[in-house]
Formats: sequence, structure tokens, C-alpha cells
Amino acid sequence: MYLGKVMVVFGTRPEAIKMAPVIKELEKIDNIRTVVAVTAQHRDMLDQVLHLFQIIPDYDLDLMKKQQDLYSITTGVLNGLREILEKERPDLVLVHGDTTTTFVAALAAFYEKIPVGHVEAGLRTHNKYSPFPEEMNRSLTARLAELHFAPTDTARENLLMESVAAFKIWVTGNTVIDALLDTVHPDYQFPPDFPALDFKHRLLLVTTHRRENWGNKMRDIYEALIELADEFKDIEVVFPVHKNPIVKDVAMEMLGNRERFHLIEPLDYEPFANLMKNSYLILTDSGGLQEEAPSLGKPVLVLRDTTERPEAVKAGTVKLVGTNRQAIVKEARLLLSSQAEYEKMAFAINPYGDGKASQRIVKVISEFLYVRSSGMKN
Ligand code: UD1
Ligand code: UDP
Repeated sequence: MYLGKVMVVFGTRPEAIKMAPVIKELEKIDNIRTVVAVTAQHRDMLDQVLHLFQIIPDYDLDLMKKQQDLYSITTGVLNGLREILEKERPDLVLVHGDTTTTFVAALAAFYEKIPVGHVEAGLRTHNKYSPFPEEMNRSLTARLAELHFAPTDTARENLLMESVAAFKIWVTGNTVIDALLDTVHPDYQFPPDFPALDFKHRLLLVTTHRRENWGNKMRDIYEALIELADEFKDIEVVFPVHKNPIVKDVAMEMLGNRERFHLIEPLDYEPFANLMKNSYLILTDSGGLQEEAPSLGKPVLVLRDTTERPEAVKAGTVKLVGTNRQAIVKEARLLLSSQAEYEKMAFAINPYGDGKASQRIVKVISEFLYVRSSGMKN
């Protein structure tokens, strides 16, 4: 029996990584038709993931502009999806996380009275400006969604506190663990064109991109890295720099020509995930890395003032250090100089899932579509 059509919409690198396992799982179900629409809010960084997971979108809005802002992404996604939704009339629109694509795709589906499933629902800092605009994007998406796929019990609790009905929430684990477990291999060989890192050195893996860190905070972070590299001669800093010129220009200016700094283009997910596995310590303001690194047993210093991912902090593998130069140096120095302190943080835990999140999500979607196509009320 044909169950219906699911349209999966996403636009950026992390959404693509975390939706890829869901798409693969959906495609295994013969009686569901899966349509993939990308907004391409990111272009190259999105294409890297599409290529790796061999996803060929049915629709591509090709939105990205070099100097895009929140207004242009919002209107571009809204206007772009209108025609696609009107033509395809899916039975469910599936969105992920907290980007502007996420929220606006959910809004467009709402305008068409199409139910929305939200993957990675319920993450909260409870501070509407941090991270900006993600906290508001995911909160507003929750208001619009019918199905809430919460990665953890904490996320479920957050949704319940906002009066989302318990029967609309499923705790599934985070699909990033599905992607990660598929991608990290003990015998992985880095490609021949991989930067010449000295794997005998301790690798500090760094990523930064958060809007609320743009400007002086980002400069403070980079100053801290310089200080650490001066103090510890056995470390190499590997920094795949986000494509955003607001990040890239400052990073290149401050760190570009320094010894033992490798500023490289964003890596494909496979080398990146395996590089995480081979790192000593991770410093990042990314959301996804806070979920991946704990399962690889790598300590993470989070270069932000808030986190919506308290589980690994509670477990002890992730520390929220903020963006103050001295605070970053102090915490990193501790982990670089004390084996005991390092070992306290470097153990593999997996509060974010067991690699089966996508299966659980697709099971719920199948049931939802079944009830809907049988004419029963969801
Ligand atoms: C976006 C999301 C953020 C998510 C992040 C993941 C919003 C508002 N922000 O932030 O939630 O955590 O993606 O990385 O939804 N660029 C390229 N090539 C690319 C990607 C980006 O050149 O493949 C450059 C472009 O100049 C673009 C700029 O980066 O204008 C900013 O991209 P944008 O998606 O607006 O913001 P991010 O900071 O990437
Ligand atoms: N990532 C990648 N290549 C890189 C840097 C990051 O594939 O050079 C992956 C990383 O493993 C994680 C995701 O991209 O799964 C995180 O993306 P980002 O930090 O841009 O977004 P966030 O998670 O903060 O929304």
C-alpha cells in the first residue's frame, strides 16, 4: 500500500550530514516516495556532503550568495519553496535542526497546510540571542511541527516545558551518530592530497563560525591559539576554515602564515571525521562537533558562552569555556600539560545515540503516513 510522499528539505553542511542517514533509510521503504529539496544556503560545503552520501536532489534552489544575510536567506527559501510545495504536495515535510532554511521551510509547509517533522528537535539554551539566530529558529520550528524527533531525554523535556504534546515527541538519538559510525574507520587512510600533518605531534583541531562570535570574540579565540602554539612546541593546529569570508579573512590574517598552523579548506566529512579521531583536543564553536567528539573519546573545549547540548558537558567530555583568551589558554594548557586532567575528559561516551536514530525516525514516519493514508486522524 502506498503510504505517501515525504519531502526532505535542507540547506547547509550540518543539516546534510544529519539528514543523509534519514534519506538513506527512507529510500529503503518502497511505499514511501522521498523527494529531496535543497535550498543550497551553503553551496560548496553542501555539495561535499551530497557527493559523499550520493544524494541527488530533486530540487535545488541554489540560493547561496557571497554576502547573504538573514533577510535574503529567509525570503529566498520562502519564495523558492512555494512553487515546489505547490507542485509536489508532499504528505510530510521533514526539516532538521535550527538553520534559517529549517525554520523557513517549516513556515512554508505551514502556509501550505502540510505537516512538518522536525529532526533534532528540542535543543535549547533558553537564550534567544545565543546562539543567534539558531535558538529562535528551532523554537519557532517546534511551534510549526507535528512530529518532534528529539535526540535526547533533555530535548524531550524542553519540548514538554513548551507544552508540546507528549505523544508528538519521540526520543530517537541524534542521526549524526548514524553518519559518524558509518564514516570513521580504524584503518582509514587519508587521501594523498591531505595536508602534510605530523601525526607524531599532538593535533589541535579547530573550527569556528558562530555569528555571535564574529568580530572581537573570534580574534580573542585566535590569539589564544597563537599563545598555545608558542607555549607547546609539540602541537599542530589544524583549522579547516569555514567558507564565510567574515571568518576566513580574519583567520587567514591572524593565523595564515604561522608555523605549525594548517589553515585548510573545509574538509569532506570522511577525512574530517577521521581527523577528529586522530586529534588530541578539539576547540570549536560548532554544534555538531559537540555531539561527535564525545563518541570518539576526544575532549572538546566549546568556544561559546552557551550550549544547547548539556549532555556531554554533564558527562565530562565537553567543557564550555567561552571566548575569553585567558580562559581558553588556561583550560587548553591544563589538558596539554596534565595527563590526569586529559584522561578525565578523554573517554568515549555516547549520550547522543547508538547509530539507529534514522531507523526510529523512519518507523515513526511510516506509521504517521499509514494512519494518514488510511483516512484516520493523526
Ligand atoms: C549557517 C547557519 C548556522 C549553521 C552553519 C553551519 C543560518 C542563519 N546559519 O551559518 O545555523 O550552524 O550554517 O555551518 O542558518 N559560504 C560559502 N560556501 C559555502 C557555505 C558558505 O562560500 O559552502 C559563505 C558565503 O559567503 C555565505 C556565508 O558563507 O554567504 C555565510 O553562510 P550562511 O549559511 O549565511 O551562514 P553560516 O555562518 O554558514
Ligand atoms: N565538518 C566537516 N568538514 C569540516 C568541518 C566540519 O565535514 O571541515 C562537519 C562536522 O563533522 C559536523 C558538521 O560538519 O558534522 C558541523 O558543521 P558546522 O560546524 O558548520 O555546523 P554546526 O554543527 O555548528 O551547525
